[in-house]
Formats: sequence, structure tokens, C-alpha cells
Amino acid sequence: MAHNGHAVNSALNGVNGMTNGKMNGFTNGLLINQNGYQENDNKTHVLVTGGAGYLGSTLVPMLLRDGYKVTVYDIFRWGINSLLPLAGDPNLHIIKGDVCDEAHLVKVMENVDVIIHLAAVVGYPACDKEPDKACAINVGATETITKNLQSYQKLIYASTGSCYGAVDGICSEDTPICPLTLYGSTKAKGEELVCNVGGVGLRLATVFGVAPRMRLDLLVNDLTHKGLNLKHFDLYQGSYRRTFLHVKDAARCFILALENYDKMSGNAYNVGHESMNMTKSDIAHLIQKSVKGCRITESKNGEDKDKRDYEVSYEKIRKIGFSTTLTVQDGINELLKILPHMSEADVIRSKNV
Ligand SMILES: NC(=O)c1ccc[n+]([C@@H]2O[C@H](COP(=O)([O-])OP(=O)(O)OC[C@H]3O[C@@H](n4cnc5c(N)ncnc54)[C@H](O)[C@@H]3O)[C@@H](O)[C@H]2O)c1
Repeated sequence: MAHNGHAVNSALNGVNGMTNGKMNGFTNGLLINQNGYQENDNKTHVLVTGGAGYLGSTLVPMLLRDGYKVTVYDIFRWGINSLLPLAGDPNLHIIKGDVCDEAHLVKVMENVDVIIHLAAVVGYPACDKEPDKACAINVGATETITKNLQSYQKLIYASTGSCYGAVDGICSEDTPICPLTLYGSTKAKGEELVCNVGGVGLRLATVFGVAPRMRLDLLVNDLTHKGLNLKHFDLYQGSYRRTFLHVKDAARCFILALENYDKMSGNAYNVGHESMNMTKSDIAHLIQKSVKGCRITESKNGEDKDKRDYEVSYEKIRKIGFSTTLTVQDGINELLKILPHMSEADVIRSKNV
């Protein structure tokens, strides 16, 4: 692929924490690593920043299964546990690093064909809590990547519907960007930087479902957790329309973008499906039906700072060949198998704030 075997060899010896400084060798074009595994050096090499997070820990095993070589670059803010089942895969490399460490990130970028940039301070409450960090990570580090991107490298970026702000009518990619939160504005700036160098921005709907690194601060996951634990709680802004996407479908879209890169280059895409344009009350009703004894009542107190209340068109990504495979009900069903067994410590670890 874009690199030669020696570049990979030196990269593995230089920066890959898994090699522990031990020498690797080559036999017939195959790289033999310290564990004696043979690695096919002709695989497309994908760097996933933030690869241990909610989305990353779902995407990385899919990439490995599809025959890619993957390097995860992550600060492991939420731990390494999400990658434990993958540790034995010879095509997975793990580097502990901060995307704000420019020298380190640029060195790691040298050896890859594709960069999937997920690392971020995620969600408006987390960005409001650490605004300087949010700007440095969500914008500064994205700029490092775009500045150092080589012409042969593909760049795919996790953007968000939070870029739009309040929207009247149906929201398409032509709807002006008008973010209302620091999260939305830093992610929109990152997306602009990426598209300007020919990368692809995927504006994900609000993601839900079970992943190796769980998040319970996302609407469907949070309400299902509350339904189970509180049984009765108030829901504010129930009539607000939001749009949802299963974490596995979100991950699949990154692979679709990788495989259709030339067609998609320089563009942003809404990612989701019109069937999951739903009000918060629609979600609450599904949860009520699924959780015995659960009763969710509407309340006039409280509001979301990002004021998201819109319908989204997914025509543009559909034309590339994307469709979703999992519904909100599928997500609730799988959440109900896992949430009852999470400890208090698990729950705390699963919230970004
Ligand atoms: N989950 C959603 O609903 C959703 C929706 C739209 C967009 N996104 C975007 O998807 C991406 C991933 O989100 P997620 O839900 O997986 O979040 P997450 O918080 O679970 O994962 C983020 C990962 O980035 C890592 N990270 C944070 N700061 C870092 C740094 N300085 N250097 C290296 N790694 C760092 C964290 O350790 C973590 O593993 C983000 O860019 C987010 O904006 C998510």
C-alpha cells in the first residue's frame, strides 16, 4: 500500500507500544512480529484516533474483520478494556498517545493509508466543562491531521448533526451550519478543515446501542437506563424531533466512506435514516412498552442547550449505497440485556461528564 515494509517495520519498532522495542523480521513479504504472528504487509493500514471509544471500539473489529490493518491511537481516557477482545489480532496495533502531541501524531500518520479521526471531547456538557481542551482536541488536533495529510492518504471524520443548530423544516447537507454549542462549533470547524483537504465528514445522528465501551449519556441509552432504574421519570421537550443511528450502522458508514472515497471526497454527509427521525416521546413510548412498570411523564421543565428539533434528509448518503440495518427498538432490546447487570462503577465510567 502507500508504505513499504521497512517503514512499517521501523514504525512498529519505534512507536508501537505492543512491540516493546523487540525486533521484528520479514519472511517472504510477511512481517513476523514479536509474538510470532505473520502479518500481511499488503493490507490497507487504517489509523483510528479515539479507537477505544464508543464508536471506535465498534468500528475497529469491523475493520479487522474486513481485512484492514488497524492502528488505534488513543489517550484511553475511558480505559483500554474495550479493546481487550482484539489484543490477539496480529493486524491490530495500539499506541497510547494524545492527538494534541503533534510530533507523535505526525510520526504515527506517516505509516498509514487512511485516517479515521474520532478522538474528541464529545457532547456539549463535556465541552462546556473543559472548553480549552475541547478547542485543542476538536479543532487543533484536526488541523494537525489536515496539515500533515499526504496526497495518497484518505481522511474520514466523525462529524455530528449538532453542527446544524436549530433548523426549520427538513435538514439536508445544504442547510446552513449554525451550531449553538461549543461542541457543535468545534466539530463544525473540524469538519470544514477535513473537507477542505478532500476528506469526508460524516454527520452522525445521535448514536445508540451497546458497544464494548459503553456510553449512557446518549438519549436512547440514557432513557432506557432511567426507565430500568427509576421506572418513573419526567421527560422534557418530548415533542422535539431528533434523529438516531445504531452504533454498528454508524461504524459501517466509515467503511462505506473508505470504500467509496473518491466519490465522497471533499463532502459532508448526514448519516442515518428517515425512519429514525423520531420525537423524544416516540423513544419514551418504545421504552415504556419494553420495560415492565416503567412510566414516563411529560414535563415542561428543562431544555437541551443545543435545541435540536429537526427532521433530517439522508438522501445524499443513500445515493452512495448506505442504509441502516438496526432500529431503535433493536437498540433498546440489546440495552435491556446489558444495563441490568452494570455495576455503579460501570455506569459512572459510561458517562462523558
Ligand atoms: N456517539 C454519538 O452519538 C456521536 C454522534 C455524532 C458524532 N460523534 C463523534 O464520534 C466520535 C467518537 O465519539 P464516541 O461516542 O466514540 O466518544 P467517546 O468519548 O466514547 O470516544 C472518544 C475517544 O477519544 C479518545 N480521546 C479523547 N481525547 C483524546 C486525545 N486528546 N488524544 C487521543 N485520544 C483521545 C478517548 O480516550 C476515547 O477513547 C467523536 O468525534 C464524536 O464527536 C459521536
